[in-house]
Amino acid sequence: MREVTVSSPAKINLSLLVGPRRPDGFHPLATVYQAIGLYDQVVAGPGVDGEFSVAVAGDERLSVSQVPTDDSNLAMRAARLLAARHGVEEGVHLTITKGIPVAGGMAGGSADAAAALVACDVLWGTRTPRKELMAMAAELGSDVPFSLVGGTAIGTGRGEIIAPAMARGSYWWVVLESGTGMSTPEVYREFDRIHGDEPPPEPAVPPELMAALRSGDIERLGAALSNDLQPAALRLRPELAQSLGYGLEGSAHGAVLSGSGPSCLFLTESELHAIQVAGWLKGYGLGPVSYAPGPVAGARVVKP
Ligand code: C5P
Repeated sequence: MREVTVSSPAKINLSLLVGPRRPDGFHPLATVYQAIGLYDQVVAGPGVDGEFSVAVAGDERLSVSQVPTDDSNLAMRAARLLAARHGVEEGVHLTITKGIPVAGGMAGGSADAAAALVACDVLWGTRTPRKELMAMAAELGSDVPFSLVGGTAIGTGRGEIIAPAMARGSYWWVVLESGTGMSTPEVYREFDRIHGDEPPPEPAVPPELMAALRSGDIERLGAALSNDLQPAALRLRPELAQSLGYGLEGSAHGAVLSGSGPSCLFLTESELHAIQVAGWLKGYGLGPVSYAPGPVAGARVVKP
């Protein structure tokens, strides 16, 4: 039986600047993405009776049971989109093994969609040009194009327009998860409420962050981490402010909320330093905590 396995990383935002709500409901962004070494894996195999189906596996500490297995599943939508584009009629069965927290602000669903595009393209032999794959990714969700690309990149538009970023150095990120996920649209609505009277300015990537990335200076990078959604998410989950503070007290070089939250990120310089900061957070009874290197590559075939 022919199967294709693709691995796809979590994303974090080193900075996330958010502008005023657009007429289509999305917000203009200027963000710097980094892919980090927490992975979802998608195995694409032949469809049962020519159908599209999806099964989800992984540790329940990552809330895997919250991932839908019906037509709303983003990986399934990705497979259907690619099939429709090429007139493929054979269907596919996708098995997703989660390593990225569900609804954590780390683009787990987007990673699965990117992985499904790559896996189905190989399974069906459709050989989609990269540019077309990127366009389909953008149709599926704001973070999906970045999940295909990985590394460190600038995202504009609603996050779907990707340009390479000059970046030096590699880092270790400690990720503090939260038992219950947060809804991205809800956090954006809270952002709109905060800025109700005074609309935020058009977003632009902070020059200081780009300079920090070019220099590879970890102290500078830590100081330049920023997220415009953080005040909104903290209004919905005030306890996250304390968690971010604990990480800094535990010697992290920087602390920031990941995307729309609730995962918290802590910047460290080595695996050993990451283990120390993770242990410090666990000492406060916080968790689950994991750590991963960044940047890493985007979605890629690991078993053809
Ligand atoms: O594009 P994606 O499906 O990931 O977006 C999920 C939701 O997040 C959107 O429906 C919208 O409410 C919000 N969003 C936004 N502005 C963005 C990206 C997402 O308002 N740039």
